[in-house]
This record gives sequence, C-alpha cells and structure tokens, in this order.
Amino acid sequence: MPKVRFEPDGIEVEVKAGTTILQAAEQAGARLGSACGGVCACASCHVFITEGWEGLSEVDECEEDILDKAFDVRRNSRLACQAQLQAERAYLVTISSASRQTFFDEHPEMRRG
Ligand code: FES
Repeated sequence: MPKVRFEPDGIEVEVKAGTTILQAAEQAGARLGSACGGVCACASCHVFITEGWEGLSEVDECEEDILDKAFDVRRNSRLACQAQLQAERAYLVTISSASRQTFFDEHPEMRRG
C-alpha cells in the first residue's frame, strides 16, 4: 500500500492505491487545507513532494492552471486534491504554510496554544 508521511507534523498513514493526497491527509488527521472541497479551484491544498513524485498521477491542465496562481510554487509542487498515490511506495509530503493556514482558519479549535 502507498505509505505517506506528512511534514512538518510527522504524521503517517497507509492508504489504498489511487487515494488522493488530500484523502490520505484526512484519514491521517494531517493539517492540510482544502477550501474548495477538493475540486481543483483554490490552491489551498498546495503541498511539496519531497519523496515519491514518480509514483503520483500526472499533473493535468486544471492543476497546472491553479498552481500558476499559488504562492511559493516550486518544481515539486502539487495540489493534494488532484495528485493520486498510484504506486505502492513511500511518499514524503510537506504541507505548504499557506495550506496549513487555511486548515487552521477552517478548524480554529485545532490551533495550538
Ligand atoms: S482543495 Fe481546492 S484545489 Fe485542492
């Protein structure tokens, strides 16, 4: 099964192949924003793929367009709601600070301190 570790919190989860990174984050309880509900319309699920890029589904046109408008886009940027974990391997995913901010805006009760 694909195994994902979410940074910066170090939360890990195993999921079925074909699961999106956003769905894996929800299963794991990782703090990943999803303002549009996962329909490729907001960029609040922006993550960086530190390990496992080759095991993901390809970037489609919609994801490219949305990432164009995101902040701090890097070569290893993906939208968590669009990237599917296809290969049975380990993945290391860093949640962008903008995405964490969106998560805490959506879940104020989860804020620390
Ligand atoms: S949750 Fe909005 S684009 Fe992924």
